[in-house]
Amino acid sequence: MELIATIRDMTRFSETVRQKDQTIAFVPTMGFLHEGHLALMEKALTCADHLVVSIFVNPAQFGPSEDFSTYPRALEQDLEKCRKIGVSAVFTPTDEQMYPPGFETYVTLENLPFHLCGLSRPGFFKGVATVVTKLFNIVRPHTAVFGEKDFQQLTVIRRMVTDLNMGIDIVGVPIVREPDGLAMSSRNKYLTPAQRPHALLLSRCLETAENAVKNGERDAGKVLDLAGDILATGSDMRVDYLSLCDPETLEDVALIQKETLMAMAVWVGKTRLIDNRVLTF
Ligand code: PAJ
Repeated sequence: MELIATIRDMTRFSETVRQKDQTIAFVPTMGFLHEGHLALMEKALTCADHLVVSIFVNPAQFGPSEDFSTYPRALEQDLEKCRKIGVSAVFTPTDEQMYPPGFETYVTLENLPFHLCGLSRPGFFKGVATVVTKLFNIVRPHTAVFGEKDFQQLTVIRRMVTDLNMGIDIVGVPIVREPDGLAMSSRNKYLTPAQRPHALLLSRCLETAENAVKNGERDAGKVLDLAGDILATGSDMRVDYLSLCDPETLEDVALIQKETLMAMAVWVGKTRLIDNRVLTF
């Protein structure tokens, strides 16, 4: 496995692979790798001849009061996991290389960021779209793999790749959960043992909503009430948003459609957790 720390070396690696007519699958991450990331990598291994993983905690997607400086980092353990799984190259650029003095070009979308997470994290998707575009230009993958855990992020990336003719195949991977149902996240590390049972209410309310829809409920307001009641049983929790929306446009729906996304962000103490499920009937 190659450990690549500069943009020049990363692009050189990709050029060499492409000259041999071989293909590259790419998994961008911010590190502190868990089973969710590893599932993306397993999928990516089946998509191309080489797997490139980036580990970069992107300052441009954190707001001024967010956890950029305290975001968990564990490079040595991450590299060991990548080595075990069969990654060809890990790319770890520095902030200075990615955002040198004078940097002023960003990628923005007109509508998708003004829903769900984008409302309480202004600038987040601008930061994500920009860094992913830069990483795509540097790594030059044929395929890139993203998790459905960050459903809105996946929707934004698909839209951007289509709109800007990036010619990269975007593959989504279902959410990987802990045995108790909690969606895996690097930020779960912030949860105290006392908060953990409350965090489980997120997946529990998705299950309840899914059952209601399977049992014939079509009124989005009623499903939201059921789900909201479950979240309300937790303590030290604040719902940032709970939404039933169209999985492509992310616009709220009043009536449950054949495929409706239920998505939420909930603060458990000082930790903001997200979860989602596409409800079908
Ligand atoms: P990060 O939070 O490290 O996540 C990297 C990838 O892993 C994302 O595609 C995310 O959706 C996926 N992922 C995380 N937890 C998952 C889970 N439990 N199940 C399935 N997939 C999961 O998302 C980012 O980093 C950044 O925004 C990034 C795209 C790297 C741009 O900076």
